[in-house]
This record gives sequence, structure tokens and C-alpha cells, in this order.
Amino acid sequence: MCGIIGIASNDNVSSNIINSLKKLEYRGYDSAGIAINNNEKINQKKVKGKLDNLIYALQEDQFDGKVGIGHTRWATHGEPSDKNAHPHSSRSVSLVHNGIIENATELKKTKEVRDYHFESDTDSEVITALLTHHRREGLSHLESIKKTITILEGSYALAIIFDDNKDTIFGAKNGSPLVAGTNGVENSIGSDSIALSSVANRVCYLEDGDIAVLDNKNIEIYNIKGDKANREFVEIGITESDVSKGEYNHFMEKEIHEHPLAVGETFRQFIDYDTGIIKIPNLNLDFSKISKIHLIACGTAYYSCLVGKYYFEQYSRIPVDCDMASEFRYRDPVIDSNALCIFVSQSGETADTKAAVDYCRDRKIKTLSIVNVKNSSIARDSDYCLYTKAGAEIGVASTKAFTAQLSVLLSMAIHLATLIKSITIDDNKKICKEVMQATQLLEQAIERSYSLKDVAKSITKAKGVMYLGRGTSFPLALEGALKFKEISYIHAEGYPAGEMKHGPLALIEKNLPVVCIVPPGPLFHKTISNIQEVIARGGKILMITDDETLESNSENIWEIFRLPKCPKSIEAIIYSVPIHMLAYYTAVELGNDVDQPRNLAKSVTVE
Ligand code: AGP
Repeated sequence: MCGIIGIASNDNVSSNIINSLKKLEYRGYDSAGIAINNNEKINQKKVKGKLDNLIYALQEDQFDGKVGIGHTRWATHGEPSDKNAHPHSSRSVSLVHNGIIENATELKKTKEVRDYHFESDTDSEVITALLTHHRREGLSHLESIKKTITILEGSYALAIIFDDNKDTIFGAKNGSPLVAGTNGVENSIGSDSIALSSVANRVCYLEDGDIAVLDNKNIEIYNIKGDKANREFVEIGITESDVSKGEYNHFMEKEIHEHPLAVGETFRQFIDYDTGIIKIPNLNLDFSKISKIHLIACGTAYYSCLVGKYYFEQYSRIPVDCDMASEFRYRDPVIDSNALCIFVSQSGETADTKAAVDYCRDRKIKTLSIVNVKNSSIARDSDYCLYTKAGAEIGVASTKAFTAQLSVLLSMAIHLATLIKSITIDDNKKICKEVMQATQLLEQAIERSYSLKDVAKSITKAKGVMYLGRGTSFPLALEGALKFKEISYIHAEGYPAGEMKHGPLALIEKNLPVVCIVPPGPLFHKTISNIQEVIARGGKILMITDDETLESNSENIWEIFRLPKCPKSIEAIIYSVPIHMLAYYTAVELGNDVDQPRNLAKSVTVE
């Protein structure tokens, strides 16, 4: 996905645009660019690489002007390069785009753009060509946009400026998020409220088909029918501290340290302190009719679903299926009319997950989303929505959102089980007491995880790392491997501990690091046996446990990382801390870009 910003002010906008682009970099950082209308001449600068390259390039030029747009890119069509960077401009039009125009190749062959000199390999540039043509044909700015978007297929969030209209920015939305904002002095549009946090205190979320027209005094929004639309403006709800690293070196480090707050705030929504039970307030969903639950997500959010499956089936005895969103709708799933489909997404904008929501809605299947960003597309498109209260998560590697997702899933499972009486009120109260320990146990887990810095120093040389676990520790193994590989660039694989002997054991060789997640309980001894099989073949074991009896009786036990004793119900939440911290320390040791790892973006708004 990419990040777009547009600002209309009564003062020079270049520094505010750059400041917003800094907040947007988590959405993509392959290239960056800016275009500003200075007395009816559009000046543009765009460069490959990080935003710093653009800032450096701008030092030689003074970009004045009160209306401008900016872009940070995560490459889809066309490699990262200066020419493929946005904005894409002609003499009369300049625009930035987030999304994919699926019929771009066909449109480039139409007569309207036959004479247009395309400079880039991108799909987005065809929009510039079409707008340029329509303006040359004498259509107004607004009519040119309306006529252009009627023939676009695919997703777009656009910010557009015209050379002969030095006061106005136009925005258009379909499928990709677009937010309009104001602070009374200047007006803006951008990919999300984080981007607008320093130039707006009130925002509104555009709907598909909307066109926004804004100058420094007014914001007008027209809906798909061309009528003026009254979109509700709400407090932006994002503070500067939310989007700054504070005293931490990286956003990921800060966000790992926010696990306690994220989990505490998330659970707080679902604890009835008068009765001491967990319940989901104001959820007018008749759970008694739910025949089956489908959990659908991508990446880390998918791994929270795999843990959630254990929660729902253990406490409510309702069958659960988990699907990666990118696979879900293509497997022609069997979903009966009494099923509930639950979609988990930190950003609420992941295209694969959003498409899965739409798939279910088209089939009149009940949809509930668990998201971290208010008013995000997935939240708005679902019948019901529950929020993780993790706060803005900027690091590409998701951390506090994961434990917050587990907190919502556990709360839902307990609420549902209590309603259908598969657990008693007393069971609920017991688990509620355990949930109330989560914040303190997470704080202790963070304190103890500092010791993993030494482990990270020696793991950097590994050619691969294996993560093993059973039960809910298996999805944690998957999550640990994903976190590790996406920021250290060292291959890592999560596997059910019991499956190693069915093939993957062949990978074990002397000193290969194997992270074993082995909490006490009914699977403890079986997991220890699997670990012995690995030790016997020379694997180097890092054990993560809160068992107090386990001692190292082999030189191949590299380290026993001991967590504080924690209740089974919140075990997966507490065990997330060391697996996140190990990945973080390893990436730092390697000197990698922890918050903006190569090739990735925070939320993937393309399929
Ligand atoms: C996790 O660290 C990754 N950033 C990625 O797998 C992410 O979880 C996935 O893209 C889903 O994003 P979402 O939660 O915003 O939908």
C-alpha cells in the first residue's frame, strides 16, 4: 500500500506535507514525492528510496505554494525508481494514488490517451493522462474527475491538483481509505488519520464513490450520485505522542513496551467490574443461533485467529474454522446461514481481508470484525465490530495489536460460552480474575525479556531458525517465526512440535537454533520429548516457559527463558512478549531497518 496526503492552507504547505509523509512512511517507503501549486505552476520533486532522500533533494529547491500533495510508495506496478515515484504529473494535472487500477493497460490504449507521453511503468499514470485529456476537452476540474473515475476499475484513493486552480485539492475514493481533515486553518486529505494528526483535529471518513473538493476554507464532499454528502466529522483521536517514538529507539520497541497498556485497555472494555465477569456490552448478536465460527485474517492477525480457535472451542464447544483471507473466498467455502464470520485486522484496510468481508456480506452471512483503527473500511463494512485498544501501531511488525487481538478473542469466547452455558458464571469469574493479572504479568515478561539481547547476538549468524510449540503454543511458534523473519531477513519456520519427526527433523543440524515454546500443562512432557529429539541431533535449544521445575541437563540447552507463572487462560498473551522481543533484538543486532523492513508495508491494501 502507499500513503497519500494533500493540504490546502493559507501558508506554505511543503513542510507540513513532508511532516505528514513522515507519518505515512509506515505505509510504504520505496520512493517519495511532492507536488505544489505555486501561482498556477505545479512544481514537483520525487525520488527513489526513503523520505530522507526527498528531504535532501528538496534542500536545493524552495517549494513554495499553499496547495500541495505528497506520496510514499510501496511498489505494485513498476519497480521502485524516480520515474515510478508519485506524483504523476502533466503540465496541467498532478496526482498521487494509493491502490491498483486493474484496467490500466487497456485504458492506455484508448484514443483519449493515445497522444499522451507516458514516463512511468505505473498503473497510476493513466489517471493523469485521462484527466489531462478531459481538461483539454474543456471539462471542469470536477467533471474531468467524475468522467475519469467512471471508467477506472480497481481501487484508488486520489489527491489531485490542477495548475490553473491554485487553491483547491480534489480527492476521490474507491476501495482504498481516504480521510478528510480540518483544524480550522487548513484542510487536508490523506490515507489515514495518522497522516493528518499534525494538520487536523477533526476528520471524516470518505465512502466509496465520494469526491472531495477542498481549499483552505471549505471541504465539500459529493457522493457517487453527485449529490452533496454529509459525512460526519469526528475528533481525530490521535495525539502526537501516539505517532512518535518517545524515548524508544524504534516504534517496535515502544509498541512491545505497550503490550501491558494495549491488553489492559482492550480487556477493560469487556470486564463488568460490578459483577466481576467478562461480557461484551451492546453486542446485539444472538449467539444462541451460532452454529459455527469462521475466523479470517492475514499474517499476524491470522495467527491470533489460530489461537482464538482454541479459545472458542475450549470454552464454548462451537466448531471453528480458520482461513487466511487470501485463500478464503477462492476455496468456495461451505458456510451455513447460522455461521458467524469474524475478521481480524489491525489496520482494518487489508485488501484480502476486506474482500473476504465483502464476499460474506454478498451472501448475507453475519460478519463481525476485530480491528484497531476506528472507522476503517473493514470496521465499516462489517455487521458488528469490536475494537482492540492498542493505540496507533506504526512498526510494520505487528506486536501490541497481536496481544490485543488475543484479548478480544478470549473475551468473546468467554462471553459466548457464558451465554450458551457451556461454562458457568463462576468459571467466568475465575477467568476474569486471571485476565486482570495480564497487565502486571506482561510488565514482568518485558523486564525479563531484556536478557534475550544476549541470545540475539549469537542467533544472527544462523542460516535459519525453527520455532516449535503445541496447542496454543503452535500459533505462537508461527507468529514468532514471522516476526523473526520479517525484520531479521533470516529464514524462520514455525512448526507443531509433534510434527518434527514427520520430516522437518531432517533440517536439524549442529547448533541450528530452535526456539521451543513449552508452557506447563498436559502437553509439557510430550513437547519435552520432541525437544530431546532435536537435542539428539545437535539442535541448539532456547526454551520459553513459565514452568519452575525445568532445569538445563544438556549443553544443547542454550537458554531457559523463564516467564512469570501465568494462568493458562492468558498464557498465549504473556508468551508473546519474548518471541516479539527476540525478533526485535536480532534485527537491531543486524542493523536492519526494524520499523520499515525491506519489501514490506504496514497494511497491504492491494490483493
Ligand atoms: C505482521 O507483523 C505483518 N505486518 C503482517 O503479517 C500483518 O499482520 C498482515 O499484513 C495483516 O495486517 P492487518 O492486521 O492490518 O490486516
